[in-house]
Amino acid sequence: MNKGIAIYPGSFDPTTNGHLDLIQRGSKIFEELVVAVLRNSEKTPMFSLGERLEMLKELTADLSNVRIDTFDGLMVEYAKSIEATCVLRGIRAVSDYEYELQMALMNRKIEPTLETVFMMPADKYSYVSSRLVREVAQLGGPVRGLVPEAVEQKLREKLDPADKLRQRNVIEVPRRRKKKA
Ligand code: PNS
Repeated sequence: MNKGIAIYPGSFDPTTNGHLDLIQRGSKIFEELVVAVLRNSEKTPMFSLGERLEMLKELTADLSNVRIDTFDGLMVEYAKSIEATCVLRGIRAVSDYEYELQMALMNRKIEPTLETVFMMPADKYSYVSSRLVREVAQLGGPVRGLVPEAVEQKLREKLDPADKLRQRNVIEVPRRRKKKA
């Protein structure tokens, strides 16, 4: 096990099975892994910061050396503030490499002592991204197996709020009918 704190920064909107796979792998090689959710992104998120934190906390509850936090501003500044020595990022395919390399080198330019460590999630998640999960779910497609069950449920509730009431048997709400083309 590596001595030290690593940070796994990202938007996590929402957490996918690929993210979770990486968190599990990271938790095995670092003493402490801080999953850091960016607070103010330029993008409008599907899930609020509170919802993303709640999901991550629930999903990582069994990993004792994983902590969930938020950050704003420069990631390297936040990393320094919690005395992290490594940044963990996932690389799924060659297409990720260019962006990740650029980011890692820029971060190194700002803070040369902070190392970026890349890990690959399981190959079965190599095509899974939060953006595609959101798009498929919004268009009514299946995301089972791509996100943890708790996230799948949250997506259902977000896209069809009556689903929450149905689950709790509070009211009988008819399911939305698909529009005819
Ligand atoms: O999950 P994402 O959206 O790919 O994560 C990107 C993230 C949050 C890691 C990146 O945008 C970031 O670190 N933002 C914080 C601002 C910052 O430090 N920018 C300089 C990056 S070189």
